[in-house]
Amino acid sequence: MLIRNPRRWELPEAAATPESAFLNRRQLLAGMGLGAGLIALRPQPAAAATPFDGIFPAKRNEAYKLDRELTPEDVNSKYNNFYEFTPGKQVYAAIGDFKPFPWTVTIDGMVEEEKKLDIEKLVAAMPVEERLYRHRCVEAWSMTVPWTGFPLKALIDYARPLSSAKYVRFETFSSPGMAPELGNFLYPWPYVEGVTMEEGTNDLAFMVIGAYGKPLLGQFGAPLRLALPWKYGFKSIKSIVRITFTDERPVNFWQQLQSSEYGFWANVNPDVPHPRWSQAEERVLGSGAYVPTQLYNGYAEEVAGLYKGLESEPLFM
Ligand code: MTE
Repeated sequence: MLIRNPRRWELPEAAATPESAFLNRRQLLAGMGLGAGLIALRPQPAAAATPFDGIFPAKRNEAYKLDRELTPEDVNSKYNNFYEFTPGKQVYAAIGDFKPFPWTVTIDGMVEEEKKLDIEKLVAAMPVEERLYRHRCVEAWSMTVPWTGFPLKALIDYARPLSSAKYVRFETFSSPGMAPELGNFLYPWPYVEGVTMEEGTNDLAFMVIGAYGKPLLGQFGAPLRLALPWKYGFKSIKSIVRITFTDERPVNFWQQLQSSEYGFWANVNPDVPHPRWSQAEERVLGSGAYVPTQLYNGYAEEVAGLYKGLESEPLFM
């Protein structure tokens, strides 16, 4: 493992956040006295009983192995990105009394029949298991997480999309009052993400309902998020309320904010730098070590085939 001091090109955390893509928006906010630093820190709520309680801990699928230590839960749960709550990393302190239950998920668009169902009903129909995944943020830090969930492919089968559907689009909650930054009109809410049907039916695409053997904490994206371990972390959308099958490529949240820096595909590639920093290495949260980043975050064998014939697309931004 490679341990060393940060190099010149490594920006301080604040400068490397996707948020800095729209610095002038933040400057405008600061000028208005509405800066993110004004969010009051609130104590983390105690874990409440959830409708998932019979499901945990789920059996680990040993096919998904890691070459690193798991990131300790207390490190992971205090360093998150969830812009609906705060543009800072202390989401746990801004999460307040966010309640992930009851939670309804809408499945609509190009499907045989649209559905609106309680999360527990959806999960009851899914093959739940635990998987150990790498998680690489575009900001050049990484973690290793024991996620509990089910393959996105199982949800796609359940949804019965029409053969004309080409993409799966995901949307996070955006009702005003559910999270403090949703009142900030400078962000293009709701947070939206998308994958192609081929990506969504790949074995690695995983719908997550838990981490560390328990239902997801609010800051992890309770009660339902995505994990796409071969892509930069911003593709792994949190707190999903709507899943839409469509023939139009979704334009994601970060693309809407800064399309010259963030794209649709966002596959991890150490040889394609972000316009403002290198992606060659990553800081492993917990140990603080710097290690070389791997193509497709180490999952090339599983996913490289998805991109044959798409070489003219910006696959790595
Ligand atoms: N989903 C929503 N709804 N809002 C967000 O701000 N941030 C993304 C992604 N999903 C984000 C989101 C980014 S930039 C990253 S790196 C990961 O969530 C962070 O996941 P983690 O906090 O579990 O590490």
